[in-house]
Amino acid sequence: PSSKLLIKGGTVVNAHHQQIADVYVEDSIIVAVNSNIRVGDDVTIIDAAGKYVMPGGIDPHSHLDFDVVFTTTVDDFFSGQAAALAGGTTMHIDFVIPLNGSLTAGFEDYQKKAKKSCMDYGFHMVITKWDETVSREMELIVKEKGINSFKFFMAYKEALMINDELLLEGFKKCKSLGALAMVHAENGDAVYEGQKKMIELGITGPEGHALSRPAVLEGEATARAIRLADFVNTPLYVVHVMSIEAMEEIAKARKSGQRVIGEPIASGLALDESWLWHPDFETAAKYVMSPPIRKRGHDKALQAALSTGILQLVGTDHCAFNSTQKARGIDDFRKIPNGVNGIEERMHLVWDTMVESGQISVTDYVRLTSTECARIFNIYPRKGAILPGSDADIIILNPNSSFEISAKSHHSRLDTNVYEGRRGKGKIEVTIAGGRVVWENNELKVARGTGRYIKMAPFSYVFDGLEKKDAIYLNSLEAPVNRSKNNSSKISDFLF
Ligand code: URP
Ligand code: ZN
Ligand code: ZN
Ligand code: ZN
Repeated sequence: PSSKLLIKGGTVVNAHHQQIADVYVEDSIIVAVNSNIRVGDDVTIIDAAGKYVMPGGIDPHSHLDFDVVFTTTVDDFFSGQAAALAGGTTMHIDFVIPLNGSLTAGFEDYQKKAKKSCMDYGFHMVITKWDETVSREMELIVKEKGINSFKFFMAYKEALMINDELLLEGFKKCKSLGALAMVHAENGDAVYEGQKKMIELGITGPEGHALSRPAVLEGEATARAIRLADFVNTPLYVVHVMSIEAMEEIAKARKSGQRVIGEPIASGLALDESWLWHPDFETAAKYVMSPPIRKRGHDKALQAALSTGILQLVGTDHCAFNSTQKARGIDDFRKIPNGVNGIEERMHLVWDTMVESGQISVTDYVRLTSTECARIFNIYPRKGAILPGSDADIIILNPNSSFEISAKSHHSRLDTNVYEGRRGKGKIEVTIAGGRVVWENNELKVARGTGRYIKMAPFSYVFDGLEKKDAIYLNSLEAPVNRSKNNSSKISDFLF
């Protein structure tokens, strides 16, 4: 049976335009966006008068069913996605972290985990080692498996960290494949020293986590990754930008014309590190993530950078461990599993901190939470837009209603919430995913197996004679000031 929906009279918002219009959906596709669409009586009508009708959120950064060897995140592809849908996010891009190093085995493993999906999803691939096999597998992953981005960890020594030599190999390979290189930017060797120092000093609590890996180490690694990407002349995506130090490196590079993307996350925009000093271990431990949530002031600076275009999109890094899992590190902060929640809260938090506060427009909100992500990962305008032909992933937000966050009412399996008690204006009242109304009247109606894997095609880096899809990509990556043409093809274009 085909399902037909008419969303009537709302303010339809895309990244560059808003208008009062009706949106007509058939099955999983948006068929028409127009004023006064007339339909038959087999169509379900949703009244959106006085509300915003926007593309569903796309979270570029999550870790569902993430096995960290000694334990696994509490949210899997069903519970994490259900939580996401209740909070207005209709697609996420998760990280395949191949435990035994084989990219294809890792990919198949994650596809198995994702079978229970109730929401569309895509993948980034993490590179943790380097040899001929990995290099060949990267090619296969891009050409056959629908992944166009690779993440490299510059931190987590003794686990995931790679050195500069490998980073360069990886960047070169990304460039040759038309894939986007991503980095977790912290100086892992220095963090390791910092951690030893804290333990020596007897600082074993969660505050030791923040003290051992200060913002200067995030700034250093961000700068290094940016320079190595410049050397190879390939675009770079910096995940979870948490500090002024890292943000300023991105600002400087973009100003010089380098194609660098910066992704702040909900916790970096809406929290500060003071919780890590809370005397109660359980409370403090839930805020432990890497890079750490910084001192008050970094949050405001990251918000400002988003509103001025220095940073481009917002993720969550949703990585959920409950209090019993966090308790592993009661005597040693190094053993606390890293990560905070956010996949359910991001859309409300960005609305409240950025739109409600007057820092950005509603069209900017759509760009930062959805459209920019779709463009960067080459799935626009199928995703990230309310246009005829786009997937029917739609949210309806009531600007006059309020949200309140609590572990008692959230949909994640977590027993805690880092935003506990937070309230704000702007409530996502309806979520439509793939043409199905999955969230309405505070009720979730989701079904396992309804989420689809969204393949993301690579880009071809052409510096002259741009094809259309390349033009979109380079646009979204273009810095405010462009390099002159002569300057844009560097010696490294011939070297690598
Ligand atoms: O603490 C964090 N961020 N955990 C998730 C893994 C990562 O580094 O993104
Ligand atoms: Zn128009
Ligand atoms: Zn990371
Ligand atoms: Zn992450």
